[in-house]
Amino acid sequence: MLQKHYSVITPGYAMKMEHIQPERGRFNFHDADYILDYAIEHNLLVRGHTLVWHEQIPDWVSKSSHSGDELRTVMEDHISSVVSHFRKKYPGRVKYWDVVNEAFLKNGEPRKSLWTKIGNGNLDYLSVALLAAKRADPSAKLFYNDFGTEWNPKKAKAVYQLVRDLQNKDIPIDGVGFQLHLETEPFDPDELKRQFSLFHQLGLEVHITEMDSRIKVDDGLSENELNGQLESYRNALRVCLESEACKVFATWGFTDRYSWIPSEFPGYGSALPFDENYGAKPVFWTIVDVLRQN
Ligand code: G3I
Repeated sequence: MLQKHYSVITPGYAMKMEHIQPERGRFNFHDADYILDYAIEHNLLVRGHTLVWHEQIPDWVSKSSHSGDELRTVMEDHISSVVSHFRKKYPGRVKYWDVVNEAFLKNGEPRKSLWTKIGNGNLDYLSVALLAAKRADPSAKLFYNDFGTEWNPKKAKAVYQLVRDLQNKDIPIDGVGFQLHLETEPFDPDELKRQFSLFHQLGLEVHITEMDSRIKVDDGLSENELNGQLESYRNALRVCLESEACKVFATWGFTDRYSWIPSEFPGYGSALPFDENYGAKPVFWTIVDVLRQN
């Protein structure tokens, strides 16, 4: 399925810090290398995900009392080791890195995390992370990745402002990831279009990085919800195809057999293009239709 229909893949967990550097200086590349070997074998590109996040931080970092300066070293060493590993072993294959993931709260304020102890607080750690990633692989495209920006104007504004600030400070950034974990309500495609065009004007790429669209499954599938889901996929893909800035349209997983939705949202599921037995669902055929029309 992956080989036939996809050209870019993203490890959902294998590159996260607690997994890839469980102890200081001890790296566990086993699972990520497995995915990279698969990517090489089947001629797929990889979106590296993710170098800096407030979740899945190993105990040796989260339970320590590192100062801001020490954390900066921890972060720089982590990024340098991980990015260099893939650059050296699989040159050019991890074409994109989600360098920082989910740095804002719903209200558009910077999320307080361990990493905000770096520098003067707030978002200084983003510059540190992007510069470290650039040093480790100058040809990879560096992304900021977040969710909810397609509907939440406060967050959307915060991300835009962040990118402007980074550019003004000459910090390398190549793109913004829109996760697009959608609920059953169709979202407004014009808003997404508007944001894509703003980032395009800044010379950036945009990617849809983690799309899924959950529906209520515990009391039977409602036609309304199903149609809403198809509309969401149709609109998201159309906006991406119509935007010069949008270079990747990625779903978060491809089969409902392996999806984060049922455990995170009990009663919900069926969010992806293929069912639990890898059969093509209406979502898949909607994607095919849109691609044919374009
Ligand atoms: O199978 C592993 C095992 O090897 C590991 O040692 C053990 C320890 O935790 O558990 C199993 O790993 C789980 C992993 O998923 C693999 O399925 C982790 O516990 C579990 O926390 C992890 O959840 C992932 C979650 O991020 C947290 O990393 C989900 O699969 C993944 O879909 C989800 O993805 C996030 C994006 O990174 C950011 N955007 C939101 C998205 C959904 O939450």
